[in-house]
Amino acid sequence: ETKPRIPVLWLHGLECTCCSESFIRSAHPLARDVVLSMISLDYDDTLMASAGHQAEAILDDIRREYKGRYIAAIEGNPPLAEDGMYCIIGGRPFVEQLREVCADAMAVISWGSCASWGCVQAAKPNPTQATPVDKVITDKPIIKVPGCPPIAEVMTGVVSYLLTFDRLPSLDRQGRPLMFYGQRIHDKCYRRGHFDAGQFAEAFDDDGARRGHCLYKLGCRGPTTYNACSTVRWNGGVSFPIASGHGCIGCSEDGFWDNGPFYKR
Ligand code: SF4
Ligand code: SF4
Ligand code: F3S
Repeated sequence: ETKPRIPVLWLHGLECTCCSESFIRSAHPLARDVVLSMISLDYDDTLMASAGHQAEAILDDIRREYKGRYIAAIEGNPPLAEDGMYCIIGGRPFVEQLREVCADAMAVISWGSCASWGCVQAAKPNPTQATPVDKVITDKPIIKVPGCPPIAEVMTGVVSYLLTFDRLPSLDRQGRPLMFYGQRIHDKCYRRGHFDAGQFAEAFDDDGARRGHCLYKLGCRGPTTYNACSTVRWNGGVSFPIASGHGCIGCSEDGFWDNGPFYKR
């Protein structure tokens, strides 16, 4: 309660904004508490009240006053083709804003698969040259929080960890927090017993599907996907794709968008 709130500059490059949509639905902790009591969300062009030059001036103010003491949270990625003209923020290519803000940050968070890996806008042949944040920012610690979008409580969990312990969480070799990305969906899936017993749905509406059998033969990527969906789940712990009868498409893994087909039947 006595700790000063750490400034966060939340930038948006090429993305769909559903990482923000996910974040604002966090139940534990409530996104409201994160934004109003834990961090100081000084810039977020989706959520902030100010606009135009007034908004852009905040970036310079925070960079100057809190040099090396703020977090850069990045949603989306910079397109590098045509000198960055495919994503213009405040009249300039997003990649310039990204470089400036990250230069003085103490740490960078890459929200979602867009910032972490490139995602659908980087799908072959990637005409805008959409590029993951860590390929552009190479001199800062980067925490990747992939998923399309990431789970709300994973996002606020990462922020809570940074604020509570004043250090980065343990990361795997790809830069993902081990506490949320240390296991595969398959490791804790409630359908795993059916997988082990050789009981599979062969079609989305067959008897096996109705009995809740494993979705592997319908293309489920749970065995190769590292994420917390089968443990933390979505919507405040209510459900996740596999529980609604749809296999995992591996939305938190690098290259998932080019690794189709998603459906085998
Ligand atoms: Fe949207 Fe997915 Fe990108 Fe998040 S990672 S901004 S949900 S496309
Ligand atoms: Fe594994 Fe997918 Fe089957 Fe679950 S539904 S046990 S994640 S293959
Ligand atoms: Fe994505 Fe698979 Fe979870 S599709 S939401 S990682 S179950």
